[in-house]
Amino acid sequence: MHSSSEDNYFSNFFYNNAGVGIHKLTNYFDVYHRYFNHLRNKKVRFLEIGVYRGGSVNMWQGFFAPDAELFFLDIDPECQKHAKGNAKIIIGDQSDPVFMLGVVQEYGPFDVIIDDGGHTMRQQTVSFEVLWPSLKSPGIYLVEDTHTSYMHRFDGGYLKPDSFIEYSKALVDTMHAWYSREPERLAPTPKTRELTSVAFYDSIVVFEKQIHEPPVYKISAFGEVVDAGLQVAFK
Ligand SMILES: C[S@@+](CC[C@H](N)C(=O)[O-])C[C@H]1O[C@@H](n2cnc3c(N)ncnc32)[C@H](O)[C@@H]1O
Repeated sequence: MHSSSEDNYFSNFFYNNAGVGIHKLTNYFDVYHRYFNHLRNKKVRFLEIGVYRGGSVNMWQGFFAPDAELFFLDIDPECQKHAKGNAKIIIGDQSDPVFMLGVVQEYGPFDVIIDDGGHTMRQQTVSFEVLWPSLKSPGIYLVEDTHTSYMHRFDGGYLKPDSFIEYSKALVDTMHAWYSREPERLAPTPKTRELTSVAFYDSIVVFEKQIHEPPVYKISAFGEVVDAGLQVAFK
């Protein structure tokens, strides 16, 4: 999907930004529009990891309702200067699970989480593992710059088992685990009921959360909908 710049808040903001710097790959605006446009002017609880020059603080502040609760996390104490209005800055290390658990306890739960932090494999994976339970249902978790999974400088590498792309591919399996007939290799976890999609874009992975039951086959015909009797066995 490509949204024209007239109706895409994010590309409009970026290409007309007269304020502090914002750092994005240009294909991100269509992905933002697709996943977040329905939340325009909504009162959400939002967390973004990665502040840098502060431009994304301005972008999200202008997007959500003035009484939305916006949290931005960065390891650099200098970023504290970008706190204003409904935007709070949290200082700490996204790869420290104890610190991140404290973030969840103090500031969660969240409707939207974006990871645009340091982009190493450990940072992305630890943050996801700790923050996922604090994502509301429905909720959206978006990880940026996932091309670092192919770069040694970020501890990535093609098919490296602990890369974030490989971690995300395994979550595709988790999402389908209730269809598995090999429970010793693939069994449902709480995430099986929670994940409704794992979507890969160039340099972005988006995870949607909505707690749900296993889907059932139904037949609709002549104005009636009947159970097809093929409910998927769920352990
Ligand atoms: C790509 S920049 C963020 C850009 C910003 N979101 C934007 O759109 O303009 C990445 C930020 O992540 C921060 N960072 C790096 N390692 C981190 C870590 N371990 N924990 C938290 N933040 C980290 C850096 O200090 C830097 O400000």
